[in-house]
Amino acid sequence: MDGSAPSFSTNSLESHWMPFSGNRDFKASPRLVTQSSGAYLTDHKGNKLIDGSSGLFCVPLGHGRKEIADAVHAQMMQNDYVSPFQTGQLGSFELAEVIARRLPDPFNHVFFVNSGSEAIDTSLKMVMAYHRARGEAHRVRYVSRERAYHGVNIGGVSLAGMVKNRETFPHVMPNVVTMRHTWTGDDMFVKGQPENGRELADDLQRHCETYGGSTIAACYIEPVAGSTGTLVPPKGYLERVREICDEHGIVLVFDEVITGFGRMGTPFAAHKFGVTPDIMTMAKALTNGAIPMGAVAATDEIYETITNTAPENAIEFFHGYTYSGHPAACAAGLATQKIMDDEGLFEKSAALSEYFLDALWSLKGHELVRDLRGIGLMGAVDVHHDGVPGRRGGNLQKALFWNGCHIKFTGDNAVVAPMFISEHSHIDEIVDCLRKTLDEELEASVKA
Ligand SMILES: Cc1ncc(COP(=O)(O)O)c(C=O)c1O
Repeated sequence: MDGSAPSFSTNSLESHWMPFSGNRDFKASPRLVTQSSGAYLTDHKGNKLIDGSSGLFCVPLGHGRKEIADAVHAQMMQNDYVSPFQTGQLGSFELAEVIARRLPDPFNHVFFVNSGSEAIDTSLKMVMAYHRARGEAHRVRYVSRERAYHGVNIGGVSLAGMVKNRETFPHVMPNVVTMRHTWTGDDMFVKGQPENGRELADDLQRHCETYGGSTIAACYIEPVAGSTGTLVPPKGYLERVREICDEHGIVLVFDEVITGFGRMGTPFAAHKFGVTPDIMTMAKALTNGAIPMGAVAATDEIYETITNTAPENAIEFFHGYTYSGHPAACAAGLATQKIMDDEGLFEKSAALSEYFLDALWSLKGHELVRDLRGIGLMGAVDVHHDGVPGRRGGNLQKALFWNGCHIKFTGDNAVVAPMFISEHSHIDEIVDCLRKTLDEELEASVKA
């Protein structure tokens, strides 16, 4: 590419129905990214922006990694597609082994999918198959949490705890009940895990007492609730959820789509918090965002129960996608995981956390900032709404873009997630841009 801005006609934007976007608003005033490299993006007007959310938390190694592109290209030239049903290609076995090595024991089995949403739906079917294989098909209830985000497929929407993602789609899976979310308002501006709120885990116990623990199939938890604005689990909370699951034979699923692969400074959040679930979903950083891919990891107990109870030579789990373990995605995944090891990026992520959180906390006291939360390389700037929840967040995301920074907002929460390759100067640049944009918004709101 020569770096010059491409020309386009706004009419040419009409055909694409954009996801999670204000289509009319965007098409009237587009924000197109035409190039990405390292920590930076270039927009269609030629402006440079820093990527303050690592894309959507999926590009921690920086954009345009040649090693990944080369690996995908070589794979495409050698073996571009293999049916993953009853045949295979080496890459998926190699990548599964690499992932299994990173996972806590006894996670030794990895099922490939193409996104976080597919990982959630796959995990639900694993849970169903597991209970059926154990003669416990009567476990038909699922527990999730308020403010949860588990993707957008029917399973994920059924588990969702964010109203905008649910209210248009009421006819989803039945029998899902929610626990309260863990942001109590008692501990504000806390770096890391809040002291208060462990008892919120007992909502699960209350569901067991209301419905019967033996009817509950699984409990879904994002160890750190990401999309809703970085809700960090209170101390002791995940441990208590684990205890209750054990007591009632409930499968504990950690949705590690954002937290997996280093965002907490450890391979997975399960390591960070010292709590081991039974199933883990992952996606995002698995391939550094270069090729879509997700995965579901299961313990020996779950894999072996499903596999060994099926008749000899039969398909044990009637599930899979045409693109499960696609060769290009596996090549991207293997190259990504190699870079993570070669460059010590989990350690780098851990080492950067303090600087990042301190920088973010410099926004404390800003009139528009309601709360700050953060752990690892994941933080939220929770902004006071302007009378209409979500409107200010949407406007700030756009204003940040034109001020030179990409940050993902959900409602009025900015979710800041720098790359693991960040220098301190990158983090300063992100926070400076946030401050400038908040100042401008405050000034505009005072004038209005
Ligand atoms: C915790 C969690 N689960 C699932 C998903 C869905 O992933 P995808 O958008 O790849 O379908 C996301 C996406 O942000 C997520 O944050």
